[in-house]
This record gives sequence, structure tokens and C-alpha cells, in this order.
Amino acid sequence: VIAYFQPKPLAGSRVLITAGPTCEPIDPVRVITNRSSGKTGYALAQAAYEYGATVQLVSGPTALACPPGVERIPVQTAVQMRDAVMQRVDDADIFIAVAAVADWRVENQSSEKLKKKDGQPPALHFVQNPDILAEVAARPDAPWCVGFAAETTLDPEMAQEKRRRKGVPMLIGNLAQHVMDADHTTVELFDDEGMINLGSGEKLEIARRIVQEIAQRYVRPH
Ligand code: CTP
Ligand code: CA
Repeated sequence: VIAYFQPKPLAGSRVLITAGPTCEPIDPVRVITNRSSGKTGYALAQAAYEYGATVQLVSGPTALACPPGVERIPVQTAVQMRDAVMQRVDDADIFIAVAAVADWRVENQSSEKLKKKDGQPPALHFVQNPDILAEVAARPDAPWCVGFAAETTLDPEMAQEKRRRKGVPMLIGNLAQHVMDADHTTVELFDDEGMINLGSGEKLEIARRIVQEIAQRYVRPH
């Protein structure tokens, strides 16, 4: 009922979001992954939908239910996430990368389950995964892009450097050790103007603030 009376600043716009971790197989029974519950990404999907957007959520494995009204595209690996995003990016006005994408995948994946051999742990070789956000932001007709950075120390200089390196107008920073799996979060917004403290609160409340900030800055093409 409350949502019904809310203004819809994103009415008519299409939002593509990545969320959750990616899982990179070592063998058929083992993976390498990142710590991410998906809660922030799912809260953003819900908030964007409440604000009137059409929302697609490309999600790594999480224990969360898909928010009502949101289309979820489930994926496992970073490469699958990249492919799912690239298939949909042309139809997106806004791209929000919240996923904790594994930076590396195992190059020498085994098709058979690896077996223990005495004192001989397997030698894993890693290759770097594609940077989905940077790839989207570098496209000629790129949607308006937002990145996230969960850091163990949040240095404004480093956050701005990461934002510029990704080529995105907005980066949201939070402290990893405080927010992992929690229902609450504390975030800072970085853009061309500097840093804004968006405060602390439930992830859905903070997600609504972030979506409001996006709606204020995003200018719909005519
Ligand atoms: N990201 C992405 N694809 C990747 C890695 C990161 O889309 N392969 C996105 C994340 O979803 C996030 C942003 O880029 O929005 C920043 O991710 P982060 O891990 O903080 O940055 P990295 O460039 O991977 O740098 P590092 O982990 O070394 O700090
Ligand atoms: Ca990373």
C-alpha cells in the first residue's frame, strides 16, 4: 500500500542488476566463491521496481527469494554472468553491478573429482575473469553505470580511483567486514562531485536511498 503512493522516479526505465557471488568450479564437487549473501543486490532490485523501473536481476547462487515483479536470471560463473549481462545490456538504461564476481577462475578445471594424494594438494592455476562492469561501461551506448566496492578499509582516494578505472559515474562503497551477510549496511556514495555519506540502516532502506540518488542523476534519453 505504501509503495502504491510512492512517486515513481524510474517509471519507464529499464534497470539491469548483477547480484550475489559467482561460483567457479575446481572439479564437479568443488568451487571457489566469494562471500556474498546477495541481500544488497536484491534490495536494490526491489527498490528499483518500487520506483517504477522494469528490473532484470542476473544473480549468482543465493538463498534469497526473487523480489516480486523482478525478473531473475540465475547464473553460476563469472563468464555466465558476463554472457547473461551482454545479452540484455542493449535494452538497459541503468546498470548496477552489485555482484561479488570472483576475480579468478580455475584454468585447469578437472572433469573428474580430484582425489586426495598423501601430502600432495592439487596445484590450481588461475586466470582472471572478465570485468563485467568495466566492459559494460566501455560500450559505445553504455547504460548509466553504478559500481559497488566492498573494501576492508574504505579510503576515499582509492574508491575514486576505482570508480574512474571502471569508467562509471557512481560507485557505492561499504566496509566488507561490517556488512557481509548482515541485514544492515553503511554506505558512502562516490561521484564526480566527491563523497556523500548515505548513512546506515536496513539494506532495503539504504537501497531506496541509493535508487533515489541514481534517479536524480540519471537523465533519460529522449
Ligand atoms: N565487477 C565486475 N566484474 C568483475 C569484477 C568486479 O563487474 N570481474 C564489479 C563489481 O560488481 C563491483 C565493481 O566491479 O560493482 C568493483 O568490484 P571490486 O571487486 O571492488 O573491484 P575489482 O576491480 O575486482 O578490484 P579488487 O577486487 O582488486 O579491489
Ligand atoms: Ca574484485
